[in-house]
Amino acid sequence: MSNTTDDRLAPILNELKLDLISKNHIVENASKRKEIARTFISDTITVPTADMYAYATLATLGDDVYYEPSTAALEAHIAKITGKEAGLFVSSGTLSNQLALRSHLLQPPYSVLLDNRAHINKYEAGGAAFHSGAQTIAIEPANQHHLTLEEIKNNIIISSDVHFAPTEVVALENTLNGTIMPQDEILRISEYVHSVGIKFHLDGARIWHVAVETGTPLKELCEPFDSVSVCFSKGLGAPVGSCLVGTKDLITKARRFRKLFGGGMRQTGVLAACAAYSLSHNLPQLVRVHALTKRLEAGLEEIGVKILSRAETCMVFYDPSSVGVTYDEIAQRGSAHPEPLILGGSRLVVHIQTSEEAVEDFLSIVRQLAQEKKDAGFVPTDDAAAGAFKDVYVRRAAKIPK
Ligand SMILES: Cc1ncc(COP(=O)(O)O)c(C=O)c1O
Repeated sequence: MSNTTDDRLAPILNELKLDLISKNHIVENASKRKEIARTFISDTITVPTADMYAYATLATLGDDVYYEPSTAALEAHIAKITGKEAGLFVSSGTLSNQLALRSHLLQPPYSVLLDNRAHINKYEAGGAAFHSGAQTIAIEPANQHHLTLEEIKNNIIISSDVHFAPTEVVALENTLNGTIMPQDEILRISEYVHSVGIKFHLDGARIWHVAVETGTPLKELCEPFDSVSVCFSKGLGAPVGSCLVGTKDLITKARRFRKLFGGGMRQTGVLAACAAYSLSHNLPQLVRVHALTKRLEAGLEEIGVKILSRAETCMVFYDPSSVGVTYDEIAQRGSAHPEPLILGGSRLVVHIQTSEEAVEDFLSIVRQLAQEKKDAGFVPTDDAAAGAFKDVYVRRAAKIPK
């Protein structure tokens, strides 16, 4: 290259350069880790540890749209432990669920039957309608915990009446809001759904928690389903990734749809290695996570706070109006604490990076506020929270400091 070309190119290259590593990155990241240990809004906020990163750098270097060995090894492992023929590594739980629906469903009109609180129903931006042209039939479980076979039977559409969109997929979520769906009910539903030729999908973003809490092998939990989506980026603490498992045919189709949706990724070895690391090193920590969630629940009950949804795994939902306190008051005290706590509404999520100190600080804040209300004359009533039970998830936008 001549000097003249160098001279012309230098400013262009200079303009494109970027160094995004902050001079203070060590201090800033240490403070971010501290913040994460005190954040109760979700388990998706967990971050990779230095050991996870170190392991990831040893992964293979393939292009996953062609073939990436570490990613293929992860897919094969997830297929094996869930008892399915094949797996597909994808960027998110939403993509995984949507690919499952798109691959099961062939020719509209059709409907997908699910719990009204399910992620696929509420938080996937209407993806079932957008990607698959599917109507969703969302049922509110009468027991406020899980759908029953009777509710499925009462709402499923198996009809030649042209007014209706026949149900072609029933989708469950386990855990849902951190609660565990009884396996015997899943088996009853599976037997029925399959007897009428309908596909059965599980959003198992947090199925790991069920395996750990109930001591049930993953294969047994997944056996009733035709497809299962699992996530590494939530309770397991990997930075990115989910895996869809099912028959070879289903996964071949899903692989093509993944490309069509723009979800084909390239050097995914590092991500697959983070997922593998999370299975080996983070999954066992869920035992501590569940114990800490139960501690949170017990502490709230001691104060007299109403529990809306029990701490079966890593979440507990509460209503402080039973002691005259609002979510906003708690959140404000939390953010004013010398070591701030980050809180949403009714949902408290404990994760592998939650500190015991954060749980105790949270309980102290609620205890203190409850005492102040009592001193000001608030008289707790039994029915203070009765109306809130219907939708346990009261969302309150948490302010996460930059
Ligand atoms: C039960 C459940 N399924 C699916 C998802 C979607 O995962 P993602 O955020 O990776 O798209 C979530 C997200 O939190 C979830 O909680």
